[in-house]
Formats: sequence, C-alpha cells, structure tokens
Amino acid sequence: MTKKLWGSRFPKKTSVLADKFTSSISFDYKLARYDCLGSIAHARMLGKQRIIPQKDSKLIVKGLSSILKSLEKGKFKIDPKAEDIHSNIQDMLFRRIGNAAHKLHTARSRNDQIALDIKMYIKNEITELTDFIILLQRSILKFARDNRKVIIPGYTHLQVAQCVLLAHHLLAYIVSLERDKARLIDAQKRIDQMPLGSCAFSGTGLPIDREAVKKELGFKGLTENSIDSVSDRDFVIEILADLSILSVHLSRIAEDLILWSTKEFSFIDIDFSFCTGSSIMPHKKNPDVLELIRGTVGKIHGDLSNVLIMMKGLPLSYNRDLQLDKPPLFDAIDTVKDILEIFIALFEDIVIEKEAIRARLNDESLFSVDIVEYLIKKGLSYREAHDIVGRIAKDCLDKGERISELTNHELRKYSKKLMPDVKSILNPVASVNLKTSYGGTSPRLVERQLSIWNKRLR
Ligand code: ARG
Repeated sequence: MTKKLWGSRFPKKTSVLADKFTSSISFDYKLARYDCLGSIAHARMLGKQRIIPQKDSKLIVKGLSSILKSLEKGKFKIDPKAEDIHSNIQDMLFRRIGNAAHKLHTARSRNDQIALDIKMYIKNEITELTDFIILLQRSILKFARDNRKVIIPGYTHLQVAQCVLLAHHLLAYIVSLERDKARLIDAQKRIDQMPLGSCAFSGTGLPIDREAVKKELGFKGLTENSIDSVSDRDFVIEILADLSILSVHLSRIAEDLILWSTKEFSFIDIDFSFCTGSSIMPHKKNPDVLELIRGTVGKIHGDLSNVLIMMKGLPLSYNRDLQLDKPPLFDAIDTVKDILEIFIALFEDIVIEKEAIRARLNDESLFSVDIVEYLIKKGLSYREAHDIVGRIAKDCLDKGERISELTNHELRKYSKKLMPDVKSILNPVASVNLKTSYGGTSPRLVERQLSIWNKRLR
C-alpha cells in the first residue's frame, strides 16, 4: 500500500471503503508515462532554480527515468491499493532513490499535475487519432478509385431519388472525416498551454521557472491563470465533442453499409471476416460488427454528456469530482480508435454487387429530375416542367409502363417540347454526366476530386 501523500494530518486511518471508493489507480495508470515525463521536467527545473539541491534533482531524474524504462518494457508494477498514479509513482521513486524522492513534490500539487498529465495524454492521442483518420480516408479512397465507374441509385428519405457515382458517395465520407480531423487539430492548439506551476490553485512563493518546464515538455504556451489551470476541463469536453461528431459519421457509414449489404439492396458484400452467423438460422450472415459500431457510438455521446453534467455545477477551483473525467475520456478515445481500425480493414474487402445494382438502375423514376431540366432548357418554367413530369410519372406508375417505351405521339401529349431525343437521357450514364455543377456527381468532376484527394492523402 502506498503511503498517503497527506497522511500526517489525519489522526486515524481512512476507511477501507473510502479508500476503495476514492482510488483512481484502476484507470489513471494510463497516464503513468506523462506523469513521469512531467515530473522529470519539474525536478530538473527545481534543481536549476536551486529550489532543491542539484544532486537531489539529478537523483530524482535518474529514478524517474528508470521508472519510465520499466514502463516501456512493460515491467511497471501498478499498485492496486495506490490512491492514484501520482502516489504510485511517488512511492516507487522513494523505494528506488530514498529520501530525495520527497523533494519532487516541491512547488507542485496533484491538482496541476493531473491537469498536465491529461493534457499531454490528449495531445498525443489526437496525433494518433488523426493518423487513423488519414488511414481510413485512404482506405475509402482506394475503394472509391477501384470502383470509379460504378453508378448507384441515390436516396433521400430512404426513397429512390437520383443516380450518383458510388465514388461520389464515398467521397462524402472522406470530406466529413476531413472536418473531423480539422476539429481535432484545432482542439490540439487550445490544449497546448502548460498548467504546471499553478500548484494547488494560487501559484507558489518559490522561484520556479514555468517557461523552462513548458519548453522541456514541448508546450506552445503557459496557462495564464492558476485558478483556471486546475479548474478547467474544457480540453476534455472539447475532444469528447469532437469525437462525438466523428462517431456520428462513423455510425452513419456503418448504417449505409448495413443497408447496402441487405438482400433488399444487394449493393455490396461484406467480407465474412467482419460478419457473424446465427445460432438458429443456418443461412444467415449478419453485419454484427457494423451494428455494434452503430450501437457503441451511443456510449461515446454518453461520455460527452457524462463530463458536461459532471462539470456544470462545480465551483472553482479544483474539486475531486474532476477525477471522474478520465473513464469517459479514455473510453471515448479507445472506442473511436477501435472503430477506425475496423473500418480501415473492412473497406479493403468490400465486394460490389454490380449485377444487382444494374437491376436497380432500371427504375426510370431515377431520371425524373433530368426530364424536368430537359424541359427547363427548352424554355419551360420550373413549375410547368415539374407538373408535366409528375403527370408522366403518375400515368406510367398507374399503367405499369416505362417512359422510354412511350411513343413520340404519347410524349407530345404531355408537352410539345418533349422530343424523341429525351429518351437519350433516360439512362444512368447520361444522368450522372448531366450533373456538372461544382461538387456534383458528373464523372469528370468526381474523377478530379478523386485525384485531388489522392494527392492530399498521400
Ligand atoms: N486523482 C485526482 C484526479 O484525477 C488527482 C488529483 C487529486 N487532488 C486532490 N487534491 N485530491 O483529479
């Protein structure tokens, strides 16, 4: 059992129940590396400033470096009875270097220490997350480029709408992931203020050098207000909000793929390695992995709510409630990384069901807007054109006829402007070729987007 950092003021031992309830070691062990790095920088500064003797400073740095090494080798022994990671490492240091260890906590509190640890952790995680996002964008882009010619029916309200290139739909994922990446990078800039030196919350009378610690730890700036330094958890909320938005995108991708892989759609086949079977229905191949992605995303949104609700009633400055920011933070980051990794692999093995898609493209209602625009180009108002095509659609549906099979005479009954050449646009290729407005689905524009993203993501 590690010694309490505050034990002497207490006339008796704390209850085992209280110890168990207040301990955070079961989750904040994840911060061990940053706790060591922060303490090394702090100890060096204390030595340089002659706040503690140089030789003690050197001894502390040596001891902490050896703890770091054991951590890297996977030999770091977590003490499950420790109050938190700070006490655990402090105790370990004492056992390695003796009394000099007691000088490490000079001009420091666990309040600024934990703020530092989380910030360093998040900074590092954001880099990992953005790397994963880039890998996923590349994986989707490859899938899009490999299937650049495929046209699918697009949907609004989950009702058949218009033809689009599959690659165009996939580029929509890439574009939304780009915003997610930008948000994370932006959050990283705001996190980049070093809090150490704020101590409990009011600063210190000892001649510390915060600039030196900031430089050693690679922060851009210093926190400006010691009270805010230990009270603030905006950086936790901000990354959880960013991850919540990112996970909305991931969930919607999952949902698209689930739908597309149904018998009813039959657009794609998801590899067996990412599906499961049924214990009762032998024919089944279920997209459980994608369903669990969709389901797990709710937990990430819960993580954000969790921290928002925990924070909103806290008076300044530090309160122990703040300890509870870590389980949701770790959960959201780990879960999102898992999902990103799954998608990176899953997109590599999706098979396009070209025949089934082609059959779906037989539905000529996909071209109704194209006929409307054909009539507008011949001088009709939008309203007139919409009415005419509406009547054609209704009659064809009622009589079970196809627009392309109407005679010229029948077409002219709807409008004199409907010439035989209208039939040349009633096919998927012509339909996508027509969408030439910037950002539209014409193959030439989509090809350009594919090559722009190919360069961007290289
Ligand atoms: N485990 C605490 C946390 O996560 C560390 C800071 C404890 N500070 C204190 N004054 N009890 O916030």
